Amino acid sequence: MESATPVIVAIDGPAGTGKSSTSKAVAAQLGLSYLDTGAQYRAITWWMVNNGIDIDDPAAIAAAAGKPEIVSGTDPQAPTISVDGVDVAGPIRTQEVSAKVSAVSAVPEVRARITELQRSIAASAANGVVVEGRDIGTTVLPDADLKIFLTASPEARAARRSGELKGADVHSTREALIKRDAADSSRKTSPLAKADDAVEVDTTELTLAQVIECVVTLVEEKRAGK
Ligand code: DC
Repeated sequence: MESATPVIVAIDGPAGTGKSSTSKAVAAQLGLSYLDTGAQYRAITWWMVNNGIDIDDPAAIAAAAGKPEIVSGTDPQAPTISVDGVDVAGPIRTQEVSAKVSAVSAVPEVRARITELQRSIAASAANGVVVEGRDIGTTVLPDADLKIFLTASPEARAARRSGELKGADVHSTREALIKRDAADSSRKTSPLAKADDAVEVDTTELTLAQVIECVVTLVEEKRAGK
């Protein structure tokens, strides 16, 4: 289905709530672009690690924040991410990057750079866009047409994430997720948070298909002016 007027959908929430799968499917179903903002933070983290920047030194991260060129491809059927022309879709999913991304993404200069990039991508999406992340509804796109905040129990999130990581230990995955959420929620600059006007969807007991249907219905209701 092609959209009539551009629609901006913000989908936020912690890791393992089904944000990426839901956002991609909703965008594909509604003919919208798709932007994975976590991939951008992972990409800049990958670049810092590869260029020998000390992750424990926020000043060093801040000084380097403007250097890498990050490009996101926004086709929901085949999203891409590159840094300085290098495809980093695989390398940004390693445990090393996952363990370091919260520290890098807490640095205000990194957030300013990536936020600007996100806003320009959203503004240039002709049909509209589904943007997924942690601070999209609160900070990046506060005027989004629809804001969704996905949640799920820590157990459900860890089980889903260890399934994605092909059988990684559920206990250690749960610990790593909780640690990352705590860091993302407690940072000073645009923490993980539900916007006041976001619709909260608890996905613990829902299948992916049910979550997708729920969000598609919410977008269609918005478009119909309900
Ligand atoms: O969605 P993800 O797990 O791939 O995101 C990786 C990290 O990026 C997450 O732990 C925090 C950071 N992030 C952020 O700070 N703001 C966003 N809008 C998206 C992700």
